[in-house]
Amino acid sequence: MSQSKPDAYHKISVPAAAEPSGCPVDSVFTPFSSDYLNDPYPELEQLSAEKPIFFAEQLGYLVVTGMDNVMQVLKNHEVFSSENVQDPVFPVCDKARTVMSAEDYNPQAVMSNCQQPEHTRIRKYTRDGFNGRRMKLLEPYIRETTDRLLTQIFDQGSPAEFISCFAHPLPGQVIFRFIGFPEVDDDKLIYWTSNRLIFTWGKPTDQEQVEIAENMLRYWRYCRDFVAKRNLQPADDLTSELLAAHKADPEQLSYREVESIIYGLSFAGHEIVSNFIGLALRNILPRREQWDACCQDPSLIPGMLEEVLRFDSPQISWRRVATQDTELEGVKIPKGTRVFISLGAANRDPSLFPGPADFDIDRHNANKHIAFGYGIHFCLGARLARLEAQIAIEALVTRVPSLRLVENQTFSFAPNITFRGPLKLYAKWDKKK
Ligand code: HEM
Repeated sequence: MSQSKPDAYHKISVPAAAEPSGCPVDSVFTPFSSDYLNDPYPELEQLSAEKPIFFAEQLGYLVVTGMDNVMQVLKNHEVFSSENVQDPVFPVCDKARTVMSAEDYNPQAVMSNCQQPEHTRIRKYTRDGFNGRRMKLLEPYIRETTDRLLTQIFDQGSPAEFISCFAHPLPGQVIFRFIGFPEVDDDKLIYWTSNRLIFTWGKPTDQEQVEIAENMLRYWRYCRDFVAKRNLQPADDLTSELLAAHKADPEQLSYREVESIIYGLSFAGHEIVSNFIGLALRNILPRREQWDACCQDPSLIPGMLEEVLRFDSPQISWRRVATQDTELEGVKIPKGTRVFISLGAANRDPSLFPGPADFDIDRHNANKHIAFGYGIHFCLGARLARLEAQIAIEALVTRVPSLRLVENQTFSFAPNITFRGPLKLYAKWDKKK
């Protein structure tokens, strides 16, 4: 089965894991519990204080909390490999495996789940694609799209649901333009790529797995056709830039690596930014003093967004697997142990962030969070994500300072142990004079 190759992007046969010793074992904790999904922080706070490193029996992972411990894991990429970050948490059903076994479905691990030395070789080219010039080129598009989406919302009248009409489409359209996909394909592409995250980090039913797998296959084929088109007719976009690097030195960046980078980027750079914008609104709108301060002085927005990333991280966990016998804080970790890194707990570490459960846009060290990871796999899209959220919030404070959450709404979150953001967010505003 092509996807089970060691360098495959999707590994659907997950090997049996080893178990650590010398640490507390927790038979209750599961990041799929409804309490945790709704608000993971009370439980994380308690666990971090009582047993910062423990084996979660139900999950089969060693859970690591605390900034120092998490940094140790992320820093030591040779001991704690990222090869498992894209593996489905639960086994893939037979029907979905069949879909993924299509002969031509062969994207490669090129970024987050790629190991040395390939990772550094490939990352160099992808990092170049995120350069300042491309961000500058994208910025007017982000502003125009933001304004267009908001105008549609305001024309329909208060209140409105801001995730489906704003936070979700904005980063989707931005990432597609960044890659170079034509606008006419946006609806189809959004449909194929949405929901993908629960395939890997959620608990999808067999039917959902099959539907998502079929869409991922369609999307892979679309990416391959698109790369082939750009190979013949380059334009000013990331795909053409990567292809130019490939043509200049095919040994250093292969054609299939280009196809695979393009395939992975829309998953990496879409829904997580929707979560970021959704969480920003959810946290800032009810804190009227802090919202009003941003309306009066938009230069406070970057600091506010860093506090959102720290306080309510759009990606609350990540994973690693031990490549050799090792030890962390006296816990013996045999080769093959799977590690669940709690970025959310690290970002609330009281020894680094006093009063970590307080949301404070003036927190002087909020940017010491590790919401974008740390080390050789540090998020390549951090600058783009910040730019998109900055433009989105700037437009709102300027156009609708009266924006506020609709009262008594309950927020729900997808059953996903890693990516977290409100599925819906209703807000209202006063009629503009
Ligand atoms: C608020 C939004 C985002 C957050 C919180 C976020 C978070 C992360 C995290 C935690 C990692 C793993 C880092 C590690 O293993 O140390 C990562 C990796 C990555 N992210 Fe993001 N990300 C965001 C937006 C984006 C965007 C917009 C893009 C692309 C357009 C993107 C592309 C990537 C890529 C390619 C990697 C893998 C880098 C590598 O392995 O070398 N991310 N991100």
